[in-house]
Amino acid sequence: MSFELKDSKSYQTLSQNISRIEKIIKILKTSFGPYSMNKIITRKNGRDVITSDGATIVSNTISEDSIEKILVEMVKSQDYEEGDGTTSVCLLTYEILIESFKLIQQGFDTKDIIKNLKKCGLLCQKILNEIAEDNKIKNFCSLRQFLLFCCSTSLKSKSISSKRHIFSNILVDIVLSMGNKFNKNSIIIQEIMGGSSVDSFFFNGICFKKPFSYAGYEKQKKKYFDGNLLLINFELELSAEKFECEFKIKNVSFFRKFIDSEWSIFYEKLDSIVFSGCIVVLSSQSIGDLATQYFSERNMLCGGRIEITILEKISSITKANIIPSVYEISKNSIGFFRIIEEKQISSEKYIFINSYTSKTLTLIIRGGNDNLIKDTIRSVNDGLMVIKHIYHTNKFVGGAGSCEMKLSEKLRKYAKTLTGTDQYIVSKLSKVFEIIPKTLIENSGMDPLEIIAKLRKLNSSSEKWYGVELSRGNIIDSLANFVWEPLSMKMNIIKTALGTCDLIINTDNTIV
Ligand SMILES: Nc1ncnc2c1ncn2[C@@H]1O[C@H](COP(=O)(O)OP(=O)(O)O)[C@@H](O)[C@H]1O
Ligand SMILES: [Mg+2]
Repeated sequence: MSFELKDSKSYQTLSQNISRIEKIIKILKTSFGPYSMNKIITRKNGRDVITSDGATIVSNTISEDSIEKILVEMVKSQDYEEGDGTTSVCLLTYEILIESFKLIQQGFDTKDIIKNLKKCGLLCQKILNEIAEDNKIKNFCSLRQFLLFCCSTSLKSKSISSKRHIFSNILVDIVLSMGNKFNKNSIIIQEIMGGSSVDSFFFNGICFKKPFSYAGYEKQKKKYFDGNLLLINFELELSAEKFECEFKIKNVSFFRKFIDSEWSIFYEKLDSIVFSGCIVVLSSQSIGDLATQYFSERNMLCGGRIEITILEKISSITKANIIPSVYEISKNSIGFFRIIEEKQISSEKYIFINSYTSKTLTLIIRGGNDNLIKDTIRSVNDGLMVIKHIYHTNKFVGGAGSCEMKLSEKLRKYAKTLTGTDQYIVSKLSKVFEIIPKTLIENSGMDPLEIIAKLRKLNSSSEKWYGVELSRGNIIDSLANFVWEPLSMKMNIIKTALGTCDLIINTDNTIV
């Protein structure tokens, strides 16, 4: 290595940046794959996190350093686009950086490296499209079964791994029930402490914790079917009638009249609601005991102090408008529900609401402690995204390192068609994908050398997706063993990793 190279600003910057990233990769590496280890992340606010999720680890271990921020952005983008593959993208990025740095040390020009990185990126996308499986779904199993396998692979490396079959069923049912209209924003996650994570379930509608209720509520029925409902944004309490004026009372009868008129205004309000034909009244403000009893006597259900955001969700599924006063009650402002039911879960009461046109869905996540619930939510998010992608594209590739071994092999073959510098650079870059099976094997406590050699040989001579069986280190056909992953996720990993490396290699200074 020449003296000038080592002294150059770009060399020093790259070297420093790689060593910063290395610190994070060292932490992250052991959290990869089915034999992943958890990390406890202590936070200043005392809300410690226990997780093996790549995105959470990276976003929580990062300082104010700019290069680390780039890594966070990269992980967030993978998480947002695909939900899964966040650890893979970090491992691959680091490996590409290391290989590129070695090439720079050997005297290769950064421009040549970047040019070949881009070329390899495009080629990988082409190869993946060619080798991905799709029409085999019909031969293998039903769509549902197929989605279950893919989801199960994604959950295999999560804390809920041992319960992945239960969660896979829940998540696949969610995606299938939403079909082409699947939208993650239409899924509300309701955390309920207590019970086990296997008690988690989903409800086609909205579920929320029952807010405070006044005397008289207990007399109300706890289940209503097919009826009209009213959503209001005003108080139903006597004290709500406020007068901003002063007047002198000359005699007792005048005072009596004043009180009576206050009561009659209040009862007029209640009567307008009753005459609207609604059997359920929900409010963002309080509904006092007088109103509660009034409604109970008329076989109506009421609930006050419901968060406005929940009321808005109820509005969206029942088509009821949230009205600011009783004068706004009209045919158009009244909504319709299918079921409203109160249920006790753990030590709390919850209200479940749905309608015939309900597109919103609530996933109720149970668990013994907050950390477990939060980690389950993170895992569920990964699983949902995997199913969504596979459901929409129907394309998948083999997991357990098989896909990466195939990419590596095909790039090696491509390198042989090149000459000179390009050939050398591409043949070196072709190795980077092996980091995925290598790390999977290392984390399961085995020596990767021999297994990787076997995988290389088998994948180069066969169309099958040879990956690693991690409990004994045997070679398996990943497809036949249902270790499947979405094509879009693998594509995004490569695109994101190469884009980040391009950015980092092209940086020659950090200005504070
Ligand atoms: N049963 C399995 N056998 C071997 N490898 C598996 C199995 N299930 C999942 N994997 C592999 O684990 C890797 C994913 O691990 P994970 O910790 O979820 O990382 P990421 O954050 O990148 O998704 C993938 O390469 C996947 O193929
Ligand atoms: Mg994963």
